[in-house]
Amino acid sequence: MMKHQDLIGRMTLEEKASLMSGQNFWNTKAIERLGIPSIMLTDGPHGLRKQGGRADHLGLNKSLPATCYPTAATLANSWDKSLIYDVGKDIGKEARSEKVSVLLGPGLNIKRNPLCGRNFEYFSEDPYLTGELASEMVKGIQSNGISACPKHYAVNSQEHMRMTIDEIVDERSLREIYLTGFEKVVKESNPYTIMSSYNKVNGEFANENQYLANDILYSEWGFDGVVVTDWGGNNDRVAGLRAHNQLEMPSTNGITDKEIVNAINEGTLDESILNQAVDHLLSLIFKVHLDDKEPLQVDYNQHHNKAVEAARQSIVLLKNESNILPLKDGKRVAVIGDFAKNPRYQGAGSSLINPYKLSNSLDYLQGSKLNIVGYAQGYKRMGGKSSKLVQEATSLSKSAEVVLLFIGLDESTEAEGVDRNDLKIAHNQLELVESIIQVNDNVVVVLSGGGALELPFADKVKGIIHTYLSGQGGGEAVADILLGNCNPSGKLSETFPLHYSDVPSYSYYPGQQATSEHKEGLFIGYRYYETANVPVRYPFGYGLSYTTFEFSNLMIDKFTVSFDLTNTGEVAGAEIVQLYIEMLDSRIFRARKELKGFDKVYLDPGETKRVTLTLTKRDFSFFNPVINDWEVESGNYKIQIGSSIQEIHMEETVQMDGVSPSIFIKSEFPHYSIADVKQIPDSEFEKILGRRLPSKHWDSNKDLGMNDTINQAQYKNWIGKLFYNSIMFFHFFFKKIGRPLTANNVYFIINMPFRQVDRFTGGKVSKKNVETLLRWINR
Ligand code: BGC
Repeated sequence: MMKHQDLIGRMTLEEKASLMSGQNFWNTKAIERLGIPSIMLTDGPHGLRKQGGRADHLGLNKSLPATCYPTAATLANSWDKSLIYDVGKDIGKEARSEKVSVLLGPGLNIKRNPLCGRNFEYFSEDPYLTGELASEMVKGIQSNGISACPKHYAVNSQEHMRMTIDEIVDERSLREIYLTGFEKVVKESNPYTIMSSYNKVNGEFANENQYLANDILYSEWGFDGVVVTDWGGNNDRVAGLRAHNQLEMPSTNGITDKEIVNAINEGTLDESILNQAVDHLLSLIFKVHLDDKEPLQVDYNQHHNKAVEAARQSIVLLKNESNILPLKDGKRVAVIGDFAKNPRYQGAGSSLINPYKLSNSLDYLQGSKLNIVGYAQGYKRMGGKSSKLVQEATSLSKSAEVVLLFIGLDESTEAEGVDRNDLKIAHNQLELVESIIQVNDNVVVVLSGGGALELPFADKVKGIIHTYLSGQGGGEAVADILLGNCNPSGKLSETFPLHYSDVPSYSYYPGQQATSEHKEGLFIGYRYYETANVPVRYPFGYGLSYTTFEFSNLMIDKFTVSFDLTNTGEVAGAEIVQLYIEMLDSRIFRARKELKGFDKVYLDPGETKRVTLTLTKRDFSFFNPVINDWEVESGNYKIQIGSSIQEIHMEETVQMDGVSPSIFIKSEFPHYSIADVKQIPDSEFEKILGRRLPSKHWDSNKDLGMNDTINQAQYKNWIGKLFYNSIMFFHFFFKKIGRPLTANNVYFIINMPFRQVDRFTGGKVSKKNVETLLRWINR
């Protein structure tokens, strides 16, 4: 039954189709004669990116000043649901005050591999944690009467070739790893919109994937909102409509609206599908349009304070030998490193916020009671040797009792559209570290960067703090932690491997041409390291505090787990308690442990609190594709309570009744059964996939079509090569002249399908021109 039957009945076919795509870059179309208003959608996710002037989805043109909160990868380290709710609430308020009805976030793709260029925008390698935290963000945003837009549904695991790559993933991993976060968000926080991803999933574009949209999202999970494409993510408009894609963004100058009209006139599309889509869209528009709502007043200073607080809760203390931190008043301290003065606080791309205010650690340290002996830049931010800077920093370090050394990833390393090449910190910064540890034994490294890093110096320095990308208030928050004004309480929401080569998808990531094979299956992140016993630098859930905690009196009553937690140290602090489930003697292959509960508990010195965590049957289940449902395997399960996946303080075994599975039996999967997933034979992967693997290569003999990428032109005739090379020339040129961010943007163009060219250029290069070019290239 449609909610807006009467209104829809008064619309012409053309009017209905016209609503299915944007008016411009950020707004939907209005139909004035029927009183249908236009609404604005804009980024997201860790602040508001509302562009007043020229629009783009790459973060190229400036947006209005707004509060830049820590990015999702950072906030996830807080494990603090109410904090994330509050941050969502603030961002939503800023959006509403600027008349934005749909905020494009949170991003909740799973961190399959630490190289993904957008990991800084995502929460975790763990789907449970992702879903719990993203749900709070959605609730917070929507508490302002606007819509959040969880993205990118689904399996958007890599940036390389993101608009065409086919993510090949087996059903169990799809459900247990890649969809669980979205499922939680839909069921727990009722988002009014969801953004489909650019990529294909098992052969079909996510935006046209009826299985993902119709069967799972709408039928199974009960979503009743609107699916919006990622910007330019429409491929076949009519196929998208059949898969519940009600809104295509941005504008296509009416081209794809006509396709819908034609399909109905030709009888290939049932008009009732369009009517349903219009009905969904109208429900959204009438719910969130702001034309007649009171504008909200934003207190930006208050929001800045919240951004500082969010950073304080999220920063992770990784090492604190001999309690070098916090620093005592009067200590002679050298501050080294460009990031101390010019913080690295967010990533590049569509999430780029224009911060309303920006704090740096150096200012705060200089204003403190420390005796700052000086500051030295130490290295060139964007790479390149400078012996002068190293010498300066090293000689300053000699005169200090403690060196605070700020290093990390530069802006060009973590950006939308480009995956990282490695997990390394730039060579010139590592050289600086080596030089400084020669002259000073008390070095504390302060890291910036949106994800996991290789830390070859970890054993040689006394302290390490990871600030991630901590937003506009990060500088202040870091100083507070160094000075002990705040007790660090963040814990890693992803594993830090020792070396990139330890990562389970190391040999498969990223998919280079046609497909990306998720051969590691469900063994991503800690699910792999724990099961295959691979040593890591820092485990999942790890982080230190300036106080100590004791766990006692574990009681398990069916699904209720409770225990006492005591702060046994001298200062107030918060512990993130974690609940893991480990099945003993499972018949099927599975990860050794899985996170199924957590809480962040604040305690004064000497204080004890009783903590209660609740489990559900689902927490013990695996996904069985044969019955298309979740099942519990009969047997014994250890319930473990810890302060990281590797520090388990208490455990108890419970018995669960269920089934004796006849699928995923260990003996039938020699590699998966022991999580030896780095070189899975095709045959074993095909067995869990249930079909033959498609070719992972492009077929260079096949003519290029509208859905192929510009990248592929290099494998065709000389015209194709010339076309490709002339675009790549700009990449090398910008790199050479020291503009790596602009150079990165060339990858957007290279990875773009030909179908996008006319829309991307606003029709300046017409579809006809593109067809002609393709004919030449294919000749
Ligand atoms: C990104 C989305 C973003 C959109 C609009 C796309 O390139 O993938 O996350 O919301 O642009 O800027």
